[in-house]
This record gives sequence, C-alpha cells and structure tokens, in this order.
Amino acid sequence: MKLKIAVLPGDGIGPEIMEQGMKVMNAIGEKFGHEIETKEALCGAHAIDETGDPFPEDTFKTCMDADAVLFASVGDPKYDNNPNAKVRPEQGLLAMRKKLGLFANIRPVETFDCLIHKSPLKDELVKGADFICIRELTGGMYFGEKYEDNNKAYDTNYYTRPEIERILRVGYDYAMKRHKHLTVVDKANVLASSRLWRKVAQEVEKDYPEVITDYMFVDNAAMRMIQDPRFFDVIVTENTFGDILTDEGSCITGSMGLLPSASTGEHTPVFEPIHGSWPQAKGKNIANPLAQILSVAMLFEYFNLKKEGALIREAVNASLDQLVRTPEIQVEGGATYGTKEVGQWITDYIRKK
Ligand code: IPM
Ligand code: MN
Repeated sequence: MKLKIAVLPGDGIGPEIMEQGMKVMNAIGEKFGHEIETKEALCGAHAIDETGDPFPEDTFKTCMDADAVLFASVGDPKYDNNPNAKVRPEQGLLAMRKKLGLFANIRPVETFDCLIHKSPLKDELVKGADFICIRELTGGMYFGEKYEDNNKAYDTNYYTRPEIERILRVGYDYAMKRHKHLTVVDKANVLASSRLWRKVAQEVEKDYPEVITDYMFVDNAAMRMIQDPRFFDVIVTENTFGDILTDEGSCITGSMGLLPSASTGEHTPVFEPIHGSWPQAKGKNIANPLAQILSVAMLFEYFNLKKEGALIREAVNASLDQLVRTPEIQVEGGATYGTKEVGQWITDYIRKK
C-alpha cells in the first residue's frame, strides 16, 4: 500500500517521541512492503514563532493532501502563564480538528497487566479494565460562541441534532464490534444541551436493539470510572466531558504515556497520543514514546493493515515484559532506558521478526 503521512511533531517532547514513532512506522513499511511517504509540517508554539499562526495554511494543505496525519503534541508554558496571549499553541490543534472535520475522537483505555501496580487504583479494581471513550471533538464549548472582558466571560455549549446523531452512531458502531454496551454520558439534569443529547440518543438507540444503552450523568461517570472501571465498554460523550473523562481514564491505566488516540471525520484522520507536550521533559530523553508508537499502530489499523498494527503491539508488549521501559514505569532497580532507547529496541524487534 502507498501511504502519504503528514508528520506534525509540535512542541515540548513532541519531536522526540515523533522520531521514535517514525522509526517504527518506517520499519513496518519496509517489512510489509508499504511505500510510506512522509512530509513534516509546523504546528503549535513552534509554528507561532515561525509564522505567527499555530496551524499555518501550508500545514493545512499538507494534512489535506495526506492519507493520515501523525501528530505528537503542542503547548508551551510561556502561553499557559499568560492569559492575555492573543494566539495560543492549542488553537493550532483545535483549528486542525475543525478544518479537517474530525468530529470523532476515539480514545481506548486499555490496561497492561505488568503495569497495574502503577495504577493509583487497587489491582483488583483495575485488572482487565478495557473500554473506549468516543469523544465528540468539533462542537460544544470548545467551539461555541465565546465572550470575554475584564468583568464577565462565557462559553456556549452549542450542539445541533446532526452533530449529536453522527457521534452517537460512531459510538453504537464501536459497541456493536465490542461487547454491545454503550454508556451515554451527559448532564441532562442541568444542561439543555445534554437534554438534546439524551433525546437524540433515545431515538438512535432504537436502531441498535442488540446494544444495551445506559445513560449516566458525568459526575456519576467520573466516580464510576474509579470505583468500577470494568463496568464500561464504550462511552460516548460531548467534547468537554470527554476531555476530562479521558484524562481520568488514562491515569487509571498506570501511565498517561501509554495511550494513543484516533480522530476521524470528514477529511484526513489524525493519530496522536492523548498526553500533552510535557515541556519540563523536553530534550531530556525521558518521555515515554509508547503512546506515539501505539498511535502508529492505530494508523495502520485504520487502513485495515491488521498484521502491521498487531506487530507493533506485540513489540510494545515485549519491551514492557523485557523491562525496556522509560523511568516513570520502570521497576525498582531496573535499568535506565530513555525515549530513544525504547524506540530503538521496538524498531529492532520489528526488524528482526
Ligand atoms: C486533548 C487536549 C486538548 C483538548 C488541548 C491541548 C486543547 O487536552 O487533546 O485532550 O482539550 O482537547
Ligand atoms: Mn485533554
């Protein structure tokens, strides 16, 4: 297969983990005879410095022209600490989502048995937890009308029926492929937007009689996720709730550095780790490259290249088993491996297979 990949390393640890993701992608390409053409483009703080725009037109064109985008992370403390900044790196990510029409963000929350001890939850609660959160990505408060002056500010949680219906259907399609259990998360006891979600969901539900649908308020869902994460199979929710719940979900697995995600919709799909740019670790060769590498697995799987995805997952599991791990998940007394070393080990494993 021929694949054109737009590569957006972004800021902070982004370029370091991207380098490892690309090594793995190229090794898979060589092994399975795929022609992978990559083109790098600017995004985030880096892009603001060079062009004044966190998602420059050139980058947009490169993305539109590609079969998939591999994205790392954006963000910089110089903007986080300045509420008056006119442009922010995160706007680059939001612009990318909006312009590519990426309304469905798929975030799998999987646990690795050998890392369960790193979870803040008790082993017996978290062992075997495996669910997918489908987050609506181009609507809600992120994109609704905003206002801000020195005395008042608001964000509008705006949703329309078609936006809700299409994301619910993505949720049902995943539920049909998994354990046929969908949890629709909202705040229908307080929010008008949530009541519309619930109304639409109750209609769409009828098209999927095999799926058990339950409706859960977001506060309750946040609690359930730490009390009984195995309850969930597929969660579908709006943009803001999904943002919050997936950070919670990622941390119960033991490390945020392990979870990849896919964003799909109208144009080129994007594959990226769910974690941020961790600026404090930049250049230190300590960031975990696994979420980036697993994002590459999701990319291949998206194109139905299942063996390719499976080999990446096998290599990642082998690295964990062999204790080739970055410091935050290493066992006591275990050897020190950096971002590069973990990436290289996984690449070599794929080459030798
Ligand atoms: C995420 C991130 C982004 C979001 C930020 C960086 C804008 O937290 O992908 O979850 O809030 O969507
Ligand atoms: Mn987030």
